[in-house]
Amino acid sequence: MKIILTGFMGSGKSSVATALGKELSLNVIEMDALVLERTKSKNMAEVFNKGGELLLREWEIILAKEWQSAKNVIISTGGGVVMNKIILDYLKINSGIVIFLDSSFEAISDRIKIGNTPRPLFQDVEIARKLYTFRLPLYKKYADIIIKTDTKKISKIVKEIVVKLK
Ligand code: S3P
Repeated sequence: MKIILTGFMGSGKSSVATALGKELSLNVIEMDALVLERTKSKNMAEVFNKGGELLLREWEIILAKEWQSAKNVIISTGGGVVMNKIILDYLKINSGIVIFLDSSFEAISDRIKIGNTPRPLFQDVEIARKLYTFRLPLYKKYADIIIKTDTKKISKIVKEIVVKLK
């Protein structure tokens, strides 16, 4: 099984990926962590300083291509993968199932504290809200499964995913 978790920044992809990986005995790949490793950066701000958002997007394409034939894996994506259709095309190869963790912007902005997040694209709440509004239809368009998350516990989200996968 190849599962791809998508969703806006702060929608809980990493936590859900870890818990779901345990539940289904699947390895978890964090695309953001791989980008940091490949670009030899400490955090995303450093990636953006080196090559702007474009550097991140280029690495996301390379990684999605590299993992196109992956099996028995959960790929936790960065919130911006929907900006390039080619990334989703690669991720969906080999029966990749795209699960969108659908959080409201209100729930997300409660979780992400402005001024205290290393995310370069979440430094201003109104700019982040515009990005969210722009991307929401894209997350929906590429999703095979949509799970509303908002205030749900991780364990509940995992249970819902397992039911929908059956
Ligand atoms: C981004 C999301 C981040 C990270 C980068 C850009 C985005 O990942 O890839 O800061 O464009 O939404 P998370 O969704 O894991 O925060």
